[in-house]
Amino acid sequence: MSYKENYENWKQNPTAFWKEKANDIYWNKKPEKILDTSNSPFWSWFPEGELNTCYNCLDIHVENGKGDINALIYDSPVTETKITYTYKELLNKTAKIAGALQNHGVGKGDRVLIYMPMIPEAIASMLACARLGAIHVVVFGGFAPNELATRINDSKPKIIIAGSCGIEPGRIVEYKPMVDKAIQLAKYKVKTCFIFQRDICRAKLIKGRDFNLQLLIDNSNSVKPVPVKSSDPLYILYTSGTTGDPKGMVRENGGHAVALKNSMNMVYGLKPGEVFWAASDIGWVVGHSYIVYAPLLNGSTSVLYEGKPTGTPDSGAFWRVISEYNVSAMFTAPTALRAIKRDDPNGKKIKKYDLKNFRMQFLAGERADPSTIKWAKKHLKVPIIDHWWQTETGWAIAGNFAGLGLFEVKPGSTGKASPGFNVQCLDENGKIKPAGEIGALAIKLPLPPSCSSTLWQDKKRYKKAYLEEFNGWYSSADAGYIDNEGYIWVMARTDDIINCAGHRLSTGAMEEVLSKHEDIAECAVVGIIDELKGQIPMGFIVINSGSTKPNNTIIEETINMVRNEIGPVASFRKVIIVNRLPKTRSGKILRSTISSIVDKKPYKIPATIDDEAILDEIKDALK
Ligand code: COA
Ligand code: AMP
Repeated sequence: MSYKENYENWKQNPTAFWKEKANDIYWNKKPEKILDTSNSPFWSWFPEGELNTCYNCLDIHVENGKGDINALIYDSPVTETKITYTYKELLNKTAKIAGALQNHGVGKGDRVLIYMPMIPEAIASMLACARLGAIHVVVFGGFAPNELATRINDSKPKIIIAGSCGIEPGRIVEYKPMVDKAIQLAKYKVKTCFIFQRDICRAKLIKGRDFNLQLLIDNSNSVKPVPVKSSDPLYILYTSGTTGDPKGMVRENGGHAVALKNSMNMVYGLKPGEVFWAASDIGWVVGHSYIVYAPLLNGSTSVLYEGKPTGTPDSGAFWRVISEYNVSAMFTAPTALRAIKRDDPNGKKIKKYDLKNFRMQFLAGERADPSTIKWAKKHLKVPIIDHWWQTETGWAIAGNFAGLGLFEVKPGSTGKASPGFNVQCLDENGKIKPAGEIGALAIKLPLPPSCSSTLWQDKKRYKKAYLEEFNGWYSSADAGYIDNEGYIWVMARTDDIINCAGHRLSTGAMEEVLSKHEDIAECAVVGIIDELKGQIPMGFIVINSGSTKPNNTIIEETINMVRNEIGPVASFRKVIIVNRLPKTRSGKILRSTISSIVDKKPYKIPATIDDEAILDEIKDALK
């Protein structure tokens, strides 16, 4: 069926469309009702259904005689390790971790925080939670203890599962001391930790609190999957909001399984048994959906890569992995391709590898610049497909659909709306804008299966953040336009979020950190263009008049504060001291005007500006 027919099918009868897709999932109790909108503006998919996501990812394939197919390929250039796990083997490890969790009192609805590097035990731990109906909360390793503590306080996990360390090029990142610090900082006290000891750096365990995960795996019984309600949360994933408090996005079991399984073929054109590689991190939504859940739901093989696009050991690493494991489709952030292109502009390293099975390269996480797309197409000789995503949705809002016959790719556009999403471009009054005009990209409610319909224990904040700007619509906080052929062009965020190397960061959170500095009177952090990372943060600080500290010391301290409180992932390295910040007469800092000045982009001087001369002061400070 073509994209057009499929999209029309969905539009004509969304519940019939999703009812059919739900048949691809094993339900312990089949849902009779497909969609419940009685609690408008909220919604619930497959409300009476019961299932187990881990069963659908692992046991079902083993029971269907596919247990010897590879589920996971772990390739770690940083430890020079390559291990393959069949579905049977991954199930075995998962069921034992579930046993260990159960022995320590974890059951349905309990939260388990996972702070681990890209190792198979991280994936098995996520699946083990799903097996018990427990809710996993994975935190990306590049976040500092303070961020970890915030997530501990909000999610109140019964257990933390951590690795002893992660490995970044040139340095070992000890996770365990960060876990200890986070537990110390957090108001909510975690009593039990499972630690996976990596040979490269073993952690000191605290007696009575910390347990060696491998020993637990070796000595635990396997447990059976526990059926849960479709609406029960599978996981909470924290993502940046406009303040320092991250948003705990809740993903429900039923809708997630249905939408993700469907997406494997519809979006990526992947068959069971084929190899898919999402070169992301399990700490991000792409990792949750396309390293872990979707490939396994589909009976495909997923690659878990613990390395970087360049430097581990070189810019041929991606092509080595694709060639070595016969990857059919891969997914990464444009930053990764830009890094490779910078090192290997003529694609010489690509030519070294046989990529005969490689059919498609998918991109998401940040705007893909047309020049990178063109470079990749020229050298990889496969379609380069950009698609639009959010942590909130868990799968592509828009794209170009390999399972529905690809249509023409327009470099710079994220393709057309996915069946399931009615995307429109709205003006400030919520009216649909004519084709080609920039506005707010919004999605008509109800959102399709898998999309979060609440924040962890905070429906009110969800409503305020997403549902109140336009009545009857979900505000994506992305601005862009839709052209007259229905292609969506995602151009920028409308809030204080920046996309730095495909990582979603809050400039508001960085400002909160900077304002704690005793010598800073006020500050603004804005996103500026960066050739490699797309965007990076830049701080503008006004120093207290009585301050006697040298400027360089203050700058250095602010950089360290953001690194220590948010984490190295914030990539906060640029700070400028200014005398004043440009503001409106009502006192709102003109952050987008500041970014335009730094990026040398044209900008309109806002009519409400308090003092225009400050803009020249900013330009002078940048010289
Ligand atoms: N644990 C601990 N630290 C981490 C980390 C992790 N999991 N991931 C990143 N960091 C650290 C890095 O070591 C770096 O620290 P440094 O300041 O001491 O150098 C810092 O966080 C910034 O990391 P990053 O933004 O990744 O920049 P980089 O310069 O180290 O690497 C790229 C540049 C292009 C190689 C890298 O950004 C990349 O692979 N990008 C692809 C992004 C991606 O896959 N995004 C997922 C969304 S789909
Ligand atoms: P995250 O929740 O971390 O996945 O980040 C979501 C945000 O990343 C979106 O709101 C967009 O701003 C941006 N984004 C994701 N995919 C794309 C894309 N293909 N093109 C442009 N921006 C994107």
